[in-house]
Amino acid sequence: MSATPSLRLENKVAVITGAASGIGLATLERFVEEGARVLAADIQNEAGRALVERFAGRVRFAHCDVSDPPQIKAAIELAVAEFGGLDILFSNAGHGGSPAGVQDFDAAGWDATHAVLLRSVAAGASFATPHLIRRGGGSIINTSSISALEAGWAPLAYSVAKAGVLHYTKVAAAELSAHRIRINALVPGFIATSIFGRMFGMDTPQAAALAQQVAQRSGVANPIGRSGQPLDIAEAALFLASDASGFITGTHLTVDGGITLGPRHAWDPSVPGPMATALGLSPEQVAEMRARAKR
Ligand SMILES: NC(=O)c1ccc[n+]([C@@H]2O[C@H](COP(=O)([O-])OP(=O)(O)OC[C@H]3O[C@@H](n4cnc5c(N)ncnc54)[C@H](O)[C@@H]3O)[C@@H](O)[C@H]2O)c1
Repeated sequence: MSATPSLRLENKVAVITGAASGIGLATLERFVEEGARVLAADIQNEAGRALVERFAGRVRFAHCDVSDPPQIKAAIELAVAEFGGLDILFSNAGHGGSPAGVQDFDAAGWDATHAVLLRSVAAGASFATPHLIRRGGGSIINTSSISALEAGWAPLAYSVAKAGVLHYTKVAAAELSAHRIRINALVPGFIATSIFGRMFGMDTPQAAALAQQVAQRSGVANPIGRSGQPLDIAEAALFLASDASGFITGTHLTVDGGITLGPRHAWDPSVPGPMATALGLSPEQVAEMRARAKR
């Protein structure tokens, strides 16, 4: 007779920012399935209210613009008031931010992007910490991006903010470890969500439709041969939130279907490598030369 496995987040309370859509929403769904009660913090009021109805008693919503630290504090305090404490903070809200590059630097756009993507992470951890200490410890998870690791994935201000998230996570872990608070970052690859449509100025339904197209077509972009789904990141967030990752802090988990494992020619034989390109050889010619060398 096998015992029923216990839920991985039983009796835990989580705050998730950006919980109304994409990665945050998929994570909220998984956290609730695993027994957590969740405060969903987002700027999308209608979607937030729908979540409260859908998960009656297990989810509360706070309108929270994460670029404004007092709103993050209020959302965390609401979670504590409603659910009796806090165990997990998932600082995940985000958007594409300023599209400016090096030469068209725009101070206001840079600051606004960093307020949403980086300052919110620092503010959230700061406000959550006293509550996590009261519970004897907890887990903070911050959403970074592959644009923190490599150029070419996102605009400049976004990429630098996401790199800041990684380093913040490491340095903060040193201070928080003494309180048994673990803090880690997630590094998602190319995940089919509304973020791309929003970057192109689309409204919610249009952005959702584009996300579906990305889901159907982006498999070719990833070595693993399928598109990245919000659930892929949610499963990693669940791991980092749960006791299964109890010895992991100050680091990051890349969840990208292998897209950053190397240049495309490393995993796609139809794409010529740098030597073939330099010599003007096709992949077929390179394969033929290799075969001849083996004989
Ligand atoms: N989708 C990807 O390919 C990808 C890759 C790497 C990192 N990320 C990161 O993942 C996180 C989630 O994005 P997603 O892909 O799920 O996109 P999404 O657009 O589906 O979800 C983002 C959520 O954040 C909310 N949000 C935006 N600005 C906010 C603000 N100022 N205050 C509060 N909430 C705000 C939105 O309303 C939305 O619900 C972001 O931090 C994003 O940068 C996404």
